[in-house]
Amino acid sequence: MRIDNAVNIEDLRRLARRHSPRAVFDYVEGGVEDEIGMDRNRAAFDAVRIVPRYLVDVSQRSQKTTLFGREYAMPLGVAPMGLSGISRPGTDLALASAAGQAGIPFTLSNVSNDPMDQVVRAGNGQVFFQLYGTRNRGLMHGSVARAADLGVPVLMVTVDVPVHPNRERNARSGFGAAVKLKLPYLLEAARHPRWILEYLANGGVPKFMNLLSAQDTAASSAIEVARTSGEQMGDTTQVWRDFEDIRRRWPGKLVIKGVMHPDDARRAVELGADGVLVSNHGGRQLDLAPSPLEVLPAIRAALDPSIAVLFDSGVRRGSHVVAAMCLGADFVFAGRAMLYGAIAAREAGAARAIALLKREIDLQMGQMGCAGTDEFGPQWLLPRAG
Ligand SMILES: Cc1cc2nc3c(=O)[nH]c(=O)nc-3n(C[C@H](O)[C@H](O)[C@H](O)COP(=O)(O)O)c2cc1C
Repeated sequence: MRIDNAVNIEDLRRLARRHSPRAVFDYVEGGVEDEIGMDRNRAAFDAVRIVPRYLVDVSQRSQKTTLFGREYAMPLGVAPMGLSGISRPGTDLALASAAGQAGIPFTLSNVSNDPMDQVVRAGNGQVFFQLYGTRNRGLMHGSVARAADLGVPVLMVTVDVPVHPNRERNARSGFGAAVKLKLPYLLEAARHPRWILEYLANGGVPKFMNLLSAQDTAASSAIEVARTSGEQMGDTTQVWRDFEDIRRRWPGKLVIKGVMHPDDARRAVELGADGVLVSNHGGRQLDLAPSPLEVLPAIRAALDPSIAVLFDSGVRRGSHVVAAMCLGADFVFAGRAMLYGAIAAREAGAARAIALLKREIDLQMGQMGCAGTDEFGPQWLLPRAG
């Protein structure tokens, strides 16, 4: 199938799967343990009922949405995804560029592969930066300072990875350092010659260009940089004091990512957060966590309307964006849906993913009888029985 013939995100997923060795695709696709969280994310969307209103003029529908004082073309951005260069070299740049062209934000992870300055340029001033706490606090403070120097407007601090998750797909394949893949997975990888050629042409294991300083990264081999990341991540000693410390260092808007409890959301705001991203990390961390859609209304209710409530996890359709906004989100992010496109066909594939979701949101709005994203709210939802 050609990229232009993909009619939905599921088509892009199939194209991405065909491109990728199984071990690599499992890293992108997988959840944790029994992958109940991923199923729950899907089920939560399936349970939403939107009640349409007819004989309303929907000839002029606009998706323009303001977040932190800036207007975006859609209420949807690209969630941070680390190690995307393993799927295809240049994926951070491809996603940033497609998002920039489409007028939506792209979020660069601190465990990403393409250099921050290049990504910021590619993203047309709409690149956010995301930070995982590192054991060596100097590393995280260094990348926060680099993002500030580059004029990045928004920093997301991800808090839902206190320990390394139990991803059984990766344990089975040996994914982690790609060179240690187990034999059946290595043999399967041989059936993806295009991926292998691109991987080798770009020097094998991609470097975490934004974790260490530019000089350190240049001086270290990719494997050493990968090991540094393994040692630095999953820091069990991160506490609220560290969040306060980042607030002091970061001049721009600050979002806490991965919050699922209204009390945590309130606390983050008390400590200076400008926004809260309600997320279960796409079902990749705590398998029995609720779907963020289930906790979204309580978190929205707990916070002042001036605080931005953002949402991600499980978005594969325009209707999912609409559902999350009716349940209280001000802005929505998608992870895998965008990555599938970029893996399938680089920037053109990422652009295709964005265009498909944009069209779906537009048609959903027309169907509902809604002309603007500021009209989304609980009034569209069928009250639950009982
Ligand atoms: C391959 C992959 C890598 C990810 N890496 C990060 C990361 O580096 N930082 C982060 O905060 N979240 C990371 N996430 C989580 C996403 O930001 C987002 O919360 C999640 O993908 C949303 O679910 P969805 O994929 O169903 O849209 C990653 C997700 C995927 C699929």
